[in-house]
Amino acid sequence: MGQPTHALKQPKDRDWWRSAVIYQVYVRSFADGDGDGTGDLAGVRSRLPHLAELGVDALWFTPWYLSPMKDGGYDVADYRAVDPAFGTLAEAEKLIAEAGELGIRTIVDIVPNHVSDQHPWFRAALAAGPGSPERALFHFRPGRGPDGELPPNDWPSQFVGSTEPVWTRLPDGDWYLHLFTPQQPDLNWAHPAVRQEHEDILRFWFERGVAGVRIDSAALLAKDPQLPDFVQGRDPSPFVDRDELHDIYRSWRAVSDEYDGVFVGEVWLPDAERFARYLRPDELHTAFNFAFMTCPWDADGLRTSIDETLAEHAPVGAPATWVLCNHDVTRTVTRYGRTDTGFDFATKAFGTPTDLALGTRRARAAALLSLALPGAVYVYQGEELGLPEADIPVDRIQDPMHFRSNGTDPGRDGCRVPLPWAAAAPYAGFGSREEPWLPLPEDWASYAVDRQAEDPGSMLSLYRMAITIRPVFGVGPLTWLPAPDGVLAFARAEGAVLCVVNLAETPASLPPHTQLILASGPLASDGRLPKDTAVWLRA
Ligand code: NOJ
Repeated sequence: MGQPTHALKQPKDRDWWRSAVIYQVYVRSFADGDGDGTGDLAGVRSRLPHLAELGVDALWFTPWYLSPMKDGGYDVADYRAVDPAFGTLAEAEKLIAEAGELGIRTIVDIVPNHVSDQHPWFRAALAAGPGSPERALFHFRPGRGPDGELPPNDWPSQFVGSTEPVWTRLPDGDWYLHLFTPQQPDLNWAHPAVRQEHEDILRFWFERGVAGVRIDSAALLAKDPQLPDFVQGRDPSPFVDRDELHDIYRSWRAVSDEYDGVFVGEVWLPDAERFARYLRPDELHTAFNFAFMTCPWDADGLRTSIDETLAEHAPVGAPATWVLCNHDVTRTVTRYGRTDTGFDFATKAFGTPTDLALGTRRARAAALLSLALPGAVYVYQGEELGLPEADIPVDRIQDPMHFRSNGTDPGRDGCRVPLPWAAAAPYAGFGSREEPWLPLPEDWASYAVDRQAEDPGSMLSLYRMAITIRPVFGVGPLTWLPAPDGVLAFARAEGAVLCVVNLAETPASLPPHTQLILASGPLASDGRLPKDTAVWLRA
């Protein structure tokens, strides 16, 4: 094991996370360092210059731990070990250190709601049998019905569209709960050992120099001990957003404060007030803004989403986050190129017609919009390349979401395809000597980093420029400016810098300005802002 890296010199700014650009690395698909078809830590280390040039402040790594990969690594068998497909713990430490030397912080992804069925705790629970203390770490129950042949309750799967139950019965008669796949048994968070173990895991990674932790399924950990049936709308829910969670996150915060570490919670909740409770000063620092991520390309909708976001964060003093996509949802350029430009897991389907040129134009404008807003911005790998959602041949799909929907949901692999780095190289320079774990579409050479780097009009060039220039907005609030219907216009930096986005059908006149700082696309010949275009201006 290498030296703990927490003593590494980092830029001193303790508030970095309030306005950071954070790049999400889906390790399996970022870059393949050893050529075996799967992305790995060696691949990430070799591509750190790309991330430095992009100008991001931090990297969030989706789980890199030992895992049977039944859910892309969100089924963890050992939270303190790196999966051999990705590398070693020593390499993770090197990666954290090397990124740190480039001024880039690291965020790891902790999965506290469930473990892999190969985790030693679950294996011990299976071996120990019904009623054992080992089973008390999970939710084991007898079934209902005369012979216990019915599941203990009727909770819906957290894989939207899944037709499968959330309980699996063992040969010894006991059932166990798994909100996701049967290979991801849910932990019992009422058990003190579960809490202790996770605080130790947090310390383990903070000791290795990570600056933050993303918390998977953060609002699902606590369960009603009676495990009653689910009744739509009944408050409190037996498994979502329960009050007990806040006590858990207060203890986590005490741990992270020892290291100046920060949290970002995966908190999907429709109720803004309930969402904001997780962001109180002694709980999580930030949470993903899924309301913004799922919002359609519509001026009123986006403005409402921005206003509601800022209003809900203000009372708790937490910064907003701005997210356009991640490894679970349809890629931005595809989503914006469809008739329904919002995102909803329930409506994902094969063969949805898509206008990629339109989607790309909007995604460019959306990039300038989100990078101009006050708070932290997340960029999902490949978003800076304008990658579309890929069509994965059905016989190559690996995502359990597809299988658990009985094959009706295309699943999430379309946004998890290996990145193209070099147009002329095999597999577009992903690094593999053999077929990568998911196929790259034939025409993806045109999206390759080396090609886009040479093209000032590429998505990559836009992201590089925007992230470099973004500090001109400062960290202060935004002020909306008067604008025609369908146009979003706001000022920041005490009125010195403006962002204008035209979502209306007709070109819009720009407000008075002294300089055009950056545009997502060409202006009209009369200087007006065309549809689906954004600009940054100096007032
Ligand atoms: C959310 C993660 O982002 C997703 O990829 C995973 O399938 C579920 N949580 C379960 O861990």
